[in-house]
Amino acid sequence: MIHESLRIIREEHTSLSAMLQSLIQMVRRGPMHDGQDDAAAYFDVLRAMLFYIDEFPEQHHHPKESTLLFPRVAKAAPHTLSVIDQLERDHAQGESRVRQLMHRLLAWELLGESRRQAFVDDVTDYVDFYLEHMRLEETVVLPEAERHMSEADWQALDTAFAANPDPLNQRLPRDPLFDRLFTRIVMTAPSPVGLG
Ligand SMILES: [Fe+2]
Ligand SMILES: [Fe+2]
Repeated sequence: MIHESLRIIREEHTSLSAMLQSLIQMVRRGPMHDGQDDAAAYFDVLRAMLFYIDEFPEQHHHPKESTLLFPRVAKAAPHTLSVIDQLERDHAQGESRVRQLMHRLLAWELLGESRRQAFVDDVTDYVDFYLEHMRLEETVVLPEAERHMSEADWQALDTAFAANPDPLNQRLPRDPLFDRLFTRIVMTAPSPVGLG
């Protein structure tokens, strides 16, 4: 049986992975050198991608995991506790890491090539870190949840996901802001990453 809450978590992972992969492709490709405008557009797209990667998990994805899913999994399957601890630590440091990426991107854009490598290294580490984070969730936490949570747990979880997409505070539900931002980034990113 497919639980609605897990379907949502996996779908959000798919969006995030797509954005992380596009980001790393853009960074590897680097700016085109046919003019000032192209460089400016390149940095605009990278900034929009970093904004998405910062804002979407912080506002929508991590709260659902940390407040709704993880506590239930930890209770039903206590042997997952150390993994859940690790995932919570990841959530806690994600925000400051993306802020640092934003800063290093600005340094590259405004100060030039000498600051490029620091950004490239940092963004590569971050993408690896976040992909590994999602891999742990998908290979340990979600399967253990499916194995050990009771029908009553699932009903409560699915209801909580449906009733309030953001349990921490009544911010906007996922639709349609982030989907629109996602589409806009894909439309403006140059091929082969996007359609621009
Ligand atoms: Fe997570
Ligand atoms: Fe996640």
